[in-house]
Amino acid sequence: MDQQPASGYDAVYAAFRRDPKTFWEERAEAIEWERRWDRVFDPTLGTFGQWFAGARLNTCHNCLDRHVAAGRGAQAALIWDSPMAGQVRSFSYAELRERTARVAGALARAGVRRGERVVIYMPMVPEAAIAMLACARLGAIHSVVFGGFAAPELASRIADAQPTVVVSASCGLEPGRVVAYKPMLDAAIDLSPHKPRACLILQRDVLRAEMQVGRDLDFDEAEAAAAPQDCVPVPATDPLYILFTSGTTGRPKGIVRDNGGHAVALQTSMGMVYGLGTGDVFWTASDVGWVVGHSYIVYAPLLAGCTTVMYEGKPVGTPDAGAFWRVCAQHAPRVLFTAPTALRAIKQQDPEGTHMRRHDLSRLEALYLAGERCDPPTAIWAAEKLKIPVVDHWWQTETGWAITAGFRGLGLFSPKPGSGGRPSPGHDLQVLDDSGAVLPRGQTGNLALRLPLAPGCAPTLWQNEAGYRAAYLDDFPGFYRTGDAGVIDADGDVSVMGRTDDIINVAGHRLSTGAMEEVLAAHPDVAECAVVGMRDDLKGQVPLGLAVLKAGVARPAETIAAELVALVRARIGPVAAFRDARIVARLPKTRSGKILRASIRRIADGEPAAPPPTIDDPAILDEIASVLSR
Ligand code: COA
Ligand code: AMP
Repeated sequence: MDQQPASGYDAVYAAFRRDPKTFWEERAEAIEWERRWDRVFDPTLGTFGQWFAGARLNTCHNCLDRHVAAGRGAQAALIWDSPMAGQVRSFSYAELRERTARVAGALARAGVRRGERVVIYMPMVPEAAIAMLACARLGAIHSVVFGGFAAPELASRIADAQPTVVVSASCGLEPGRVVAYKPMLDAAIDLSPHKPRACLILQRDVLRAEMQVGRDLDFDEAEAAAAPQDCVPVPATDPLYILFTSGTTGRPKGIVRDNGGHAVALQTSMGMVYGLGTGDVFWTASDVGWVVGHSYIVYAPLLAGCTTVMYEGKPVGTPDAGAFWRVCAQHAPRVLFTAPTALRAIKQQDPEGTHMRRHDLSRLEALYLAGERCDPPTAIWAAEKLKIPVVDHWWQTETGWAITAGFRGLGLFSPKPGSGGRPSPGHDLQVLDDSGAVLPRGQTGNLALRLPLAPGCAPTLWQNEAGYRAAYLDDFPGFYRTGDAGVIDADGDVSVMGRTDDIINVAGHRLSTGAMEEVLAAHPDVAECAVVGMRDDLKGQVPLGLAVLKAGVARPAETIAAELVALVRARIGPVAAFRDARIVARLPKTRSGKILRASIRRIADGEPAAPPPTIDDPAILDEIASVLSR
């Protein structure tokens, strides 16, 4: 029988499956180690074993110093483009190293030592990336908090991470408003039982912050006064960062990333997934507050010696729907990575792609999408207008890099709109039924990764190993539960259908409906409530809150609904985009009293569905439909 020649992808994936340890050991050669590993993978350590145990390295050295040492100091490392501030600045590798070394010195002077935490609460300014790299330089552990979160969310992260220092800025710039970060930081520190020793505050001219004497230091002054700090080599298994992400409860999970596996996986991904290497320009239009920003604005492009573009702006309105194409023409990335919601925003305002034609996009070779499933019409629209491959790829904060993708570096693009591509070499992806049995191709079930997880994937949760096991490992012994449902088709292409828990994706931002329910339930007039993710043309999903009031509450429903909206904004933040709260008489429940959120979601999405057999009173579904139709 004739055999099809194995594509690059097939051969590389087969090599990984044959011998994962050798596969990763070979790729680890691309990283500079201070000490090599004793065992490439030690199954006796940690929750599922640890990669590169015994090795030592410094991630910042691999991102900056080694490129300077190799003679590439003059190459642009980071281009900051801010239509919000009306500025574009480029930093060479030598400049970025110099600034990072000084900021590391400033952090050290403020008391930060190896293993200690630094919370970074910053807008999309170069100093955010510099602060991250400075922590890595010291062997300290950063924890970046997205700027769209409100003070209580920041406070819970400060309480959990217990930082020695917080790095922040006076303000962020959102279209039409200046977001004062410093008062939010002050409020968060007041709320947190843990108090940082010092705060390093970047003063932006547009709004300068009031400083607290004895605690707050001016970022620029501290940097100027500091002595440059050398890289501190750390064990490969030491945490590089903690990134809090939404879980199924109101309490966010502190995803831990190690140094060694992360460096190897991310460096590998740059060539294998995106097809990029030294000297290439890469633009990830996301935010450093999310994992996409950690991995593909900061660490991976710098590990690979690329030029990374950092963009402080929006896809539309800064100033128009041509903003992305202007940046592409000006800085010439070979690959752009963004969220489908950004493309939908552009498509809504410029369906004909008029703005694309105004700019020279000849150097843009591919568009990668992640954060949520890309709806086929949007993917097809973008591919037709841009005339380049549009590649959806699926991953999560926990994995740090793509679980499935199209692989420019291996000659395999995702062939089907709606599919997230094939499993990355390094990930053994299976579909399981609810009992944990592996399902054949074509059947939908729980997407799970066979252990051990690939390098770069979270080895544990911050100071909560039991929580890690419970959230990811206990349900399907021998596997990591991704929390997503999906199917692998006959060709091996994977489609991700959605979460199996109460996490929702709003404009590519991962949010917990459970956390929003906790906020609604705290309102004095609310007896019980439910929050579900409702389909939205622009953001993919938006939250919808239903609340039942306590008996005897006579205040107008609209007033209480408005208070609930304000409460979620104040407690979680504007990023939750919680704008729709409805007061209802009853919530649909099973006979055992469980709220039927899936039924509420289907009604909100306008999907007719028969009442589930377990429902206590089917008439409630009609009541809900009637409230939602108003
Ligand atoms: N700091 C402070 N506030 C922020 C913020 C930040 N870093 N980021 C967002 N917000 C605020 C916004 O100002 C907005 O507040 P508002 O309610 O007062 O208008 C709210 O949070 C929601 O913001 P956003 O999600 O940006 O929605 P939008 O309606 O303003 O814009 C899009 C819609 C689609 C243009 C926008 O969501 C977008 O660019 N999405 C791409 C997201 C992305 O890149 N995700 C990365 C995952 S890979
Ligand atoms: P986050 O941890 O914020 O990156 O969110 C991860 C979740 O977003 C995943 O578990 C998926 O539910 C969803 N997600 C991310 N990328 C994709 C994609 N390409 N296709 C489908 N869902 C995605």
